[in-house]
Amino acid sequence: MKKIFSFVFAVAFTILITSCGGDEQKSADFSKSKSVNTDLSGGLSEFELENGIGPVKQKLELGPIDPKLVKKGEEIFNTKCIACHKLDERYVGPAQRDVIKRRTPEFIMNMMLNPEEMQQKHPVVKKLLAE
Ligand code: HEC
Repeated sequence: MKKIFSFVFAVAFTILITSCGGDEQKSADFSKSKSVNTDLSGGLSEFELENGIGPVKQKLELGPIDPKLVKKGEEIFNTKCIACHKLDERYVGPAQRDVIKRRTPEFIMNMMLNPEEMQQKHPVVKKLLAE
């Protein structure tokens, strides 16, 4: 289980790293989608409801598990996330071991990459924040 969990982070961070070069286009799109959302009176698309709001705008193809990235993801979790998240019990934020059963990998990545907008606009995260 821990492996699968680390895997999600490994994938997330690989994509983060590999997508660093071409991000200008994406951030431009991102500000556009902001105004589109307000135009539609805050309505989220079906994709956004399932996968969150942020730089990840399409479904990802997940490759095989890379143990090196798993390790790296685990280290990142243990330095950046552990202050608020435990694996098996609620802490400042929700327990994370089973997060991939509740949320799509795209949702998790958007939550990591764009937490403020997720908190402001995504109904699921707004509810979590209220709790
Ligand atoms: C300062 C505290 C804090 C830190 C640090 C933090 N989180 Fe969170 N996280 C929260 C809270 C609180 C929530 C509940 C939603 C909200 O309030 O935004 C949350 C929600 C989430 C969610 C949605 C959870 C669910 O059950 O749907 C994910 C995924 C997540 N965090 C991942 C991470 C990851 C990965 C890191 C490290 C890179 C991280 N968080 C770091 C506080 C934190």
